[in-house]
Amino acid sequence: MNVRIAPSILSADFAKLGAEIAAVERGGADLIHVDVMDGHFVPNLTIGPAVVRSIKKVAKVPLDVHLMIEEPDRYLDAFVEAGASMISVHVEVLPHLHRTIQAIKALGVKASVAINPSTPVVALEEVAADLDNVLVMSVNPGFGGQTFIPRSESKIRAIHALLAREGSRASIEVDGGVDRSNAARLIEAGATILVAGSAIFGTPDPEHATQELRAAALAKAGV
Ligand code: DX5
Ligand code: ZN
Repeated sequence: MNVRIAPSILSADFAKLGAEIAAVERGGADLIHVDVMDGHFVPNLTIGPAVVRSIKKVAKVPLDVHLMIEEPDRYLDAFVEAGASMISVHVEVLPHLHRTIQAIKALGVKASVAINPSTPVVALEEVAADLDNVLVMSVNPGFGGQTFIPRSESKIRAIHALLAREGSRASIEVDGGVDRSNAARLIEAGATILVAGSAIFGTPDPEHATQELRAAALAKAGV
């Protein structure tokens, strides 16, 4: 079973980011999930390309950059130059989503579209075949440590069906409130990338927590 674990550094200790990333990599992290917030699309501020560039120097695994910002088109180049391997943009801020997806691909990285809990799946229909990944928000974006929204599970199933219908090979990534208790169900629903912030960096041992999350995802899924 294909399960990738993407620890979100939003819940890491930013004063020792290099050590935090090394710990989750020892624990088997497949990607490092980087949450970029602008204080407009979401009510919080985080980091920009300069920090991504520094992370790129120490990370061994690809950087999965989640842009929770208005006007992401203005910053695609900067994040790719800084070292992103995949970029997620939110469907809610993009009237010309098709163009943005092509722009991300033209920069040579994977194109991903993120979808908020209240945004219907149909918003992805016209671009499904062009995507490398769909990022399903299972909380309202902006903060770590929120409670998983239960309806997200059926939404993953609906997106899985949409991608199959459109002949898309895009992966499905789930972000928000993911932990050992729901990991297996999300994989069964069709997700293959699990993002986890507080379930990994909110514990005393992020290396172990990374291993445990993968084990939970596989074990209960009957693999
Ligand atoms: C929320 C971010 C998430 C966040 C998840 O807006 O997109 O990546 O770090 O944190 P947890 O896993 O604590 O819900
Ligand atoms: Zn995220």
